[in-house]
Amino acid sequence: MTQVCISGSGLFTPAQSISNDELVVAFNRYVEDFNREHAEAIGQGSVQALQASSGDFIFKASGIKARYTVDKAGVLDPAVMRPRIRRRGDDEPSLMVEMGLAAARQALERAGRQGADVDAVFVACSNMQRPYPAMAVELQHFLGARGFGYDMNVACASAAFGVQAAVDAVARGSARAALVVSPEICTGHLNFRNRDCHFIFGDAATALLVEPADAASASAPRFEVLGTRLATQFSNNIRNNFGFLNASEQPARTWDDILFHQEGRKVFKEVVPLVSELLLAHLGELGIAPAAVRRFWLHQANLSMNQLIARRVLGHEPSLQDAPVILDEYANTSSAGSVIAFHKYHEDLAAGDVGVLCAFGAGYSAGSIVLRRM
Ligand code: COA
Repeated sequence: MTQVCISGSGLFTPAQSISNDELVVAFNRYVEDFNREHAEAIGQGSVQALQASSGDFIFKASGIKARYTVDKAGVLDPAVMRPRIRRRGDDEPSLMVEMGLAAARQALERAGRQGADVDAVFVACSNMQRPYPAMAVELQHFLGARGFGYDMNVACASAAFGVQAAVDAVARGSARAALVVSPEICTGHLNFRNRDCHFIFGDAATALLVEPADAASASAPRFEVLGTRLATQFSNNIRNNFGFLNASEQPARTWDDILFHQEGRKVFKEVVPLVSELLLAHLGELGIAPAAVRRFWLHQANLSMNQLIARRVLGHEPSLQDAPVILDEYANTSSAGSVIAFHKYHEDLAAGDVGVLCAFGAGYSAGSIVLRRM
C-alpha cells in the first residue's frame, strides 16, 4: 500500500462573532417578550413560563465563550433568532461551497498544490446545503479539480470518516490527491430559542489535503497517516428530524423537531467511554503507548468532555499542549472542530512526533486518525 500523508490544512472563519453575553441578552429578551405575551395563559397554568439563560452557566457547563456566525444580526434579533442568508442563484457558488472553497484553497496553498492536482473531493459534514447536486461536485467544479466528488454525512465525526475515504482512495491509487472539506453552518440547524442548547454551535469550514507521502512537497507540513479507525453505534440522544419527507409527514413536525436537539447529559456519559475505548484500542493496535502521543486534536463540543477523554487515554490531567482547545472561541463547529484544532496547533510538532485527530458525535459516530509528523 502507498504511504499516505496529510500535506495541508485550511480554515475559513466567518468575520462575525457572538459572545455569550450578547447571545444571552438576545435570548433573555425573547424570554421576556414570550412570558409577557403569554402572561394570562402562564397564570392559568396552560403555558409554561420560559426561563432566562446565563452566560456563567454556558461557560461553566461547556467552556464556550463565543462563536462565529455567518449572520450575527439575524441570530441576535429576538424576532428572528436564526442566520439570514441571501438566496443565491443556481449558477453562483452556494454559501457552504464558498466557505469550503476558501478552506480548500488554503490547504492547497500550504501543500504547494493547485485545484487541478486534486482528483477526489469529499465534502464531509453534518448539514448539507441541499440534497443534490452534491456540494462536492460543485466544489470540484469551482476549484478546477478533476476526478470525482461526493458528499458524506456522519455528523460531527464526518471529517474523520472523510479522511479514511481519502486515505483509502489515495492508497489504492483511485485518486492522486484527495481533499476532505467540512463546511459547517451549524447556526442554521441550531434552535436559538431552546435554552438547553442555544449556545452550543458556531460556523466555520475546514479542509485537509491527502496525498501519497512521496509525492507531497517536502516543504509542506506533512503528517503520515499511520492508521484510521471508525466506529458507529445507534443512539437517538442527538437527533435532527429535518428531511425531504417533512412536507409529506402527517402530522407535520414542529420546528423544535427539525432542528438540532439532544439529551446532553446522556451524550456526555455515553460518548466519553465510546471514544476513549476507541482511541486506546486504536493506539494499542498500532503499538503506540498513549503517553507517547504528543497531541490529541479532539472534536470540540464540551471542554469537560474533552478533558475527561484525554485523561482516560493519557492517564493524567491533559495540558493545553496535550489537547488544544478551540471551542472557547469557535464553540462546537461539528465536523470542522477537530480539524480546526489540528490546523491551529500542529506547527510545533517535530519529525517523528505522533498526534491523533479524533472526531465524534451523533449516530453515535467516532473516528480516530493517528498521524506522525514527517
Ligand atoms: N442557562 C442557565 N441555566 C441552564 C441553561 C442555560 N442556558 N440550560 C440549562 N440550564 C440549567 C438546567 O435547567 C438545569 O437546572 P436544574 O439543575 O435546576 O434542573 C441545569 O442548568 C443543568 O442542566 P443540564 O442540561 O443538565 O446541563 P449540563 O451540565 O448537562 O450541560 C451541556 C449541558 C449541553 C453543555 C452538556 O450536557 C454537554 O455539552 N453535553 C455533551 C453534548 C455533546 O457533546 N453533544 C454533541 C453535539 S454534536
